[in-house]
Amino acid sequence: MIVANWKANGDIKKNYLWCETFQNLLDKSSFNYVGISPSHIHFHQLNTFFKETNVMIGMQDIYIEGGAITGSISAEMASADGCSFCLVGHSERREIFNEDGNLISKKISSLLKNNIKPILCIGESFEEHKAGNTRDKLKSQIIESIPKSYVLNELIIAYEPIWAIGSGKTPEAEEVNSIHEFIKDVVQSATANNIVPKVLYGGSVNDINASDFFDEDSIDGALVGGASLDANIFANIVNIYKRLKKI
Ligand code: PGA
Repeated sequence: MIVANWKANGDIKKNYLWCETFQNLLDKSSFNYVGISPSHIHFHQLNTFFKETNVMIGMQDIYIEGGAITGSISAEMASADGCSFCLVGHSERREIFNEDGNLISKKISSLLKNNIKPILCIGESFEEHKAGNTRDKLKSQIIESIPKSYVLNELIIAYEPIWAIGSGKTPEAEEVNSIHEFIKDVVQSATANNIVPKVLYGGSVNDINASDFFDEDSIDGALVGGASLDANIFANIVNIYKRLKKI
């Protein structure tokens, strides 16, 4: 799956042009594994535009409940509006909004209850990377975020080293592949029904480096920030994925 994370970007006019361009660059079968997460205010626009296709439109975040929570939306509201997936625990949410494993775990429960696929984002800082603590960090993020009371049927993890996000720097694709194998093992042992998650890589993915990542067996797709704002580049990434994964 290739997922666009638009973060706090977009407006009605730009989004429309993006959608038109993107739609014209891909054949319909490619839509089966594309997800787009625009801002909440543009969710409906994108969902309406791609209504007749298999493109999944998701959200970047929800809160664990609705009601008297000014400025938030709940999983129930997202679900009623046709949201099919939602990012959880993105490093920007963890850093800027102080989100911890406990809250993230509750968000995942809330999404599952409302039939929305969670995409759990995990990743290490540059200091943790340098100190060789990447695997320990990822393992603790996974263990604390997986809701204990749920049998998960499906989980998507996005491995995003914080130092690679928006920096133009990336780890070697082989190293990412071995980390993805590690993540799959950890999730498998941490879940009651031993599920093996799909693991996306995120962090400065573009249409030049995408083929290095998609050449690796355990890299099941990408979460793309900056490069997804350009419909041409994002469509190139989707086409590279399709060619290399032979789907
Ligand atoms: P980037 O962002 O592709 O701009 O590095 C990825 C992300 O934050 O999900």
